Amino acid sequence: MGVNCHFSLVKKRKNEKLISEIDKSNLPNHVGIIMDGNGRWARRRGLPRSAGHRVGAANLKTITEFASDMGIRYITAYAFSTENWKRPKEEVDALMQLLLEYLKDKKLLEGNQVRVKFIGDRSVLTDEIRAEMANAEAESADRTRTTLFLAINYGGQQEVTNAVKNIANKVKSGEISPDEITEDLIGENLYTDIPDVDLIIRPSGELRLSNFLLWQSAYSEFWFSDINWPDFTKEDFTRAISDYQARNRRFGGV
Ligand code: IPE
Ligand code: IPE
Ligand code: MG
Repeated sequence: MGVNCHFSLVKKRKNEKLISEIDKSNLPNHVGIIMDGNGRWARRRGLPRSAGHRVGAANLKTITEFASDMGIRYITAYAFSTENWKRPKEEVDALMQLLLEYLKDKKLLEGNQVRVKFIGDRSVLTDEIRAEMANAEAESADRTRTTLFLAINYGGQQEVTNAVKNIANKVKSGEISPDEITEDLIGENLYTDIPDVDLIIRPSGELRLSNFLLWQSAYSEFWFSDINWPDFTKEDFTRAISDYQARNRRFGGV
């Protein structure tokens, strides 16, 4: 048996053991992850912030594959917010460069059953990044097990504002009347058809949404932890899911 083969078997058994702790009949359909704490992770190690972003990006692949093995259907990962442009140019450039590398890495999509889609305003991203995004979406389009939405230049307020503009135009052109504006119609005019998010995981110690999935989080459960995203493990993910399974979701009922 080759060394690689041995490692992948060990990894498979470990994943199976963790997943066996979870009640498969009560999985969250959609898990949101706010990948926070990369900068602090790097600072504590005396590394540049970009090093934290690099390890964080690699960790997304690990956690997504694991979540997919567990049976999670939808994952949304917050990678770059509409407010993150406020960061120093050097850091924004490093993040965009990393995004490009991440998208170009064919191994990202290899050997798993994860479909990739993007939410956010891509119009301001470079042609090269937009082309790679379209490529990743096309190449993974027929995967059915899990959909990974990567939120890039995403803001929940911008998403709702954009939906309101679309609907206003339809009213103006006479396509619909104001009475026809429903929650469903607003939902349909968001960036993409995305189910409500059942569980939002935010590591790094911050207790806020930071403009993530505002519309879709109306009845989300939250799971916070002090762990920085690059240190967030499959065990942590499993704990978040099992904590979620112990919650009593009432949706306003009794
Ligand atoms: C999250 O990590 C990644 C992005 C927002 C792009 P941060 O870069 O926010 O890390 P901290 O919060 O400064 O530690
Ligand atoms: C939220 O993290 C955005 C992403 C993880 C992409 P931030 O680090 O930008 O959030 P704040 O500024 O602490 O609220
Ligand atoms: Mg942060």
